[in-house]
Amino acid sequence: MNRRDFVKNTSLLSAGSLLATPLANYSMPLFAKKRLAMIGTGMRGSSFWGETIHKNYSDFVEFVGLCDINPGRVAYAKKKMGVNCKVYADLETMIAETKPDIVIVTTRDDQHDLHIVKALESGCEVITEKPMTTDEVKCQRILETEKRVGKKVIVGFNYRYMPHTTKLKELLMANRIGDITSVDFHWYLNTYHGADYFRRWHAYNRFGGSLWVHKASHHFDLLNWWLNSDPVEVMAYGSLENYGKNGNFRGKNCRNCAHTKDCKFYWDITKSQQLMDLYAANEQYDGYFRDGCVFRDDIDIWDKMSAQIKYANGVIVNYSLTTYSPYEGWRIAFNGKNGRIDTWQDIPFQEGSLEKISQAERHTMEMSQNKEEPTGFEEIIISDNFKPSFESVKLPKYKGGHGGGDKRMQDYIFNNQGLSDPMSHQAGTRDGAFSILIGIAARKSIEQRRPVQISELTDLVSLAVRPGKI
Ligand SMILES: NC(=O)c1ccc[n+]([C@@H]2O[C@H](COP(=O)([O-])OP(=O)(O)OC[C@H]3O[C@@H](n4cnc5c(N)ncnc54)[C@H](O)[C@@H]3O)[C@@H](O)[C@H]2O)c1
Repeated sequence: MNRRDFVKNTSLLSAGSLLATPLANYSMPLFAKKRLAMIGTGMRGSSFWGETIHKNYSDFVEFVGLCDINPGRVAYAKKKMGVNCKVYADLETMIAETKPDIVIVTTRDDQHDLHIVKALESGCEVITEKPMTTDEVKCQRILETEKRVGKKVIVGFNYRYMPHTTKLKELLMANRIGDITSVDFHWYLNTYHGADYFRRWHAYNRFGGSLWVHKASHHFDLLNWWLNSDPVEVMAYGSLENYGKNGNFRGKNCRNCAHTKDCKFYWDITKSQQLMDLYAANEQYDGYFRDGCVFRDDIDIWDKMSAQIKYANGVIVNYSLTTYSPYEGWRIAFNGKNGRIDTWQDIPFQEGSLEKISQAERHTMEMSQNKEEPTGFEEIIISDNFKPSFESVKLPKYKGGHGGGDKRMQDYIFNNQGLSDPMSHQAGTRDGAFSILIGIAARKSIEQRRPVQISELTDLVSLAVRPGKI
């Protein structure tokens, strides 16, 4: 830590505030840099948790090890991140040799539990990407291990940190429209980004738990956080009607396909040097094709999903997820006893300034970590019962890094500078669990054609008001 930051942090400490920061909560010497190790050096690991942390927070943390089962990918990640640490193929060896304080888990979703549990049992704290895991048995094991070993897991719910979603939380906390009774929440993935889930490992239930877990856990976490209550029951429907076996032709992957001229979903990975270096150059090690055909016969996830979710506080949610929309965005409405809150993001014909960018460009901006300047505004409409007018709340719109959530979450975790957490942004395993349990219940509901109780899944008890949260 340099002198300027030492002085700044010492003065914060004298006010007692640094002790409240997430990293300071860890049982570590106060001014030592935290030792970070990462497992899973793919796109999210090497860029958002890797390069960005090293670039922005190296006064506070240092990478001591990187691990991936793909030796080519981990070598590339080390170069891209610009770090000078050892690389490993095995988590146990990395932890034993590098003695990290914190392990960042950014592997494939179905592997998270193995890495979270191993890191906790080795005495490390954990930061894991969402979804925390993919089924209820793995979920229970994580909850039990955390309790047994007394180390903590942070789940990286970046969507909570967007200024837009935060404003909704603030309005709901202030009871602006009275007690909430129901919610309509609809998420639209476009034919660019939505299709991309069907190209990758995400297309198989066994790897990503389906989009009910891989994708919708973001949305269910927002609902749980906004409503400050736990889900109790889920009834769901879903089908696979567009991708997978529904195609009229198919290949193995886009680069080797005979149908590129006829296929609306043809995608040329060779246009991205980063994707070529990260994936195509390393196919020899694991046989994984990043540009897999969206019409592969064995794709087994749903591409159309709809659910009703009952909460312990009585709220009923109508939720849907579409994966082949012409535009990517979302809409939500909260119905309260005194009125209604409506808002949306990225609906092209409702944008403050009509969007001229293509949906492909839009996705690139969303994933970019370098677009911090606002571009236009988000709007929240509040309508009061028995009043003819409505109130419009306008907020700056951030396109980059998941609506500005990525950067705010990392600042909160790695460079908190004494911020408290008045809106309970930070998420732990209980939040991680309830966010996936809705999707796991939805899967069971579709398969067994019945409403599924959240209490059937783990020993967590759903409460009307979440304990210790606001
Ligand atoms: N919060 C967000 O907005 C967001 C965005 C993108 C991805 N993610 C999450 O980040 C994680 C990684 O996603 P990605 O897009 O980088 O995927 P990816 O396929 O690019 O990377 C996953 C990496 O894990 C490695 N891996 C798999 N099993 C392993 C094992 N047993 N041991 C060591 N390494 C292993 C793979 O080789 C690969 O390099 C996923 O959990 C995903 O859900 C979150």
